[in-house]
Amino acid sequence: MKPVRCDRTPAWGELKTCFEAGGRNFDLRGAFARDLHRFEAFSQDAPHVFADLSKNLIDAGSQALLLALARQCGLEQQRDAMFAGQRINRTENRAVMHFLLRNPPSAQYVPAQAAIDKVADAQAEVEVTLDAMLAYAEQVRADEAITDIVNIGIGGSDLGPQMAALALAEFATAGKRIHFVSNIDGNELAGVLKQLTPAGTLFLVASKTFTTTETMTNAHSARAWFEAQGGQDIARHFAALTTNVAAANDFGITTTFGFWDWVGGRYSLWSAIGLPVAIAIGAAGFREFLAGAHAMDEHFRTAALEGNLPVRLGLLDVWYRNFHGFSSRSIAPYSSALRRWPAYLQQLEMESNGKRVDQDGQPLPFDTSPVLWGEPGTNGQHAYFQMLHQGTTVVPVEFVAVRQAAHAPDDLPGHHGKLLANALAQAQALMRGKTDAGGHRDFPGNRPSTFLLLERLTPASLGALIALQEHRVFVSGAIWGINSFDQWGVELGKVLAKDIEPRLLSGDVSGLDGSTAGLLQKLRFSPS
Ligand code: F6P
Repeated sequence: MKPVRCDRTPAWGELKTCFEAGGRNFDLRGAFARDLHRFEAFSQDAPHVFADLSKNLIDAGSQALLLALARQCGLEQQRDAMFAGQRINRTENRAVMHFLLRNPPSAQYVPAQAAIDKVADAQAEVEVTLDAMLAYAEQVRADEAITDIVNIGIGGSDLGPQMAALALAEFATAGKRIHFVSNIDGNELAGVLKQLTPAGTLFLVASKTFTTTETMTNAHSARAWFEAQGGQDIARHFAALTTNVAAANDFGITTTFGFWDWVGGRYSLWSAIGLPVAIAIGAAGFREFLAGAHAMDEHFRTAALEGNLPVRLGLLDVWYRNFHGFSSRSIAPYSSALRRWPAYLQQLEMESNGKRVDQDGQPLPFDTSPVLWGEPGTNGQHAYFQMLHQGTTVVPVEFVAVRQAAHAPDDLPGHHGKLLANALAQAQALMRGKTDAGGHRDFPGNRPSTFLLLERLTPASLGALIALQEHRVFVSGAIWGINSFDQWGVELGKVLAKDIEPRLLSGDVSGLDGSTAGLLQKLRFSPS
């Protein structure tokens, strides 16, 4: 079945009618009062993650229509095409197989060879590379002389490993500091270099393409610093994580770990790009991380749509974006270890689904990716939650809470209970509201939220949580009929920056618009 764009299905029109008939004015409080089993009906167990969807503006009718929409769009066939290794990234003519990176050799599922070119070979290469990378991670962990690991990368070569390394700090080996340098602003690299000695440092140059300006600039400067400080042995102190091993070799790095063009940058944490995480938590921990993600892959691949958590979340995203018209989602991890979770999700969802044309390049008559934003709880409560509760715009909130504290609860009694109480209370307050005080003190309530719950933040549960988000983004992208796996929108600015950089020195403003010319003249500096 050829995928059908959502707005060309019968279910799309029926959802519009359903929204006008009652969806628009759906009242959560009334829904809970009418249905004592709403929590059970609208919650979902998935590997390592429990999700309460009951505080969302849905009922059995809208959910059934959303599931019909998914079927009419060919979601199952699109999902199966990805798992079969078909070249679903059409504008780059690439397969999308990040799931293969976490497909263990013993997995029941081996992609159907008939459907794919060279998938079996790809799986074999994945295993060889993973073994080599994890052996290297163990070697670095055992090397007492190496005290600092500096990951130089940006976008998917930074956000995923940084988020995961912070999230799993509790599992990290002592005696190794892991730094992340991404910004081309030299202030970031300078701040890290101050803390290092060449003999004690391993630089990981992480770049899928090995051409990204920020990463190449930082890598050249790091090598210049290393040599100027008397550093010896680049092979020992620099490693490259890339699909472009030839470019890494040209740079002078001979210790390399590769991956493949069928791994998108924002989906690459499971590949060699995960090396800093593997160094932190060890080979066994990294395999648990992969196993957690694989469990979620299997859930997404095999569970009926009705009980499939990534599908239910992705459909809710479509319902909110295209029918309720909600333009953003706030991400609220009630876990300081997950403090980079919102930033990580921003790239995952907004770079994947921030698209204005369909797979055939035709402009879309409906909206796609919402804006994702947020901070960890409880900090966000003291910043922007005011707007979430009483602002004029409804923003669905996605909470993440972890039942067991990462710290020893007896050492710091009371903290975790207060943290969890706040997460529950905020979700409750958003829904319940308060209308007895009048005026400034009234809360309208009926504001939707999703609550994701982990028993404990472990490599496995984090792996599952991330894979859940990857697949949920796949679902909304497939319904919208867009290519979630390219990112042409980042190119124009890169090209223009190359034109502007020499003009900052020369002062040449010919051909520039008045604003860019005026700003350039103010920003000019002398060469140093
Ligand atoms: O500019 C966007 C982007 O291409 C992202 O998709 C990617 O994660 C990031 O740049 C870094 O790319 P690379 O890993 O090739 O350096």
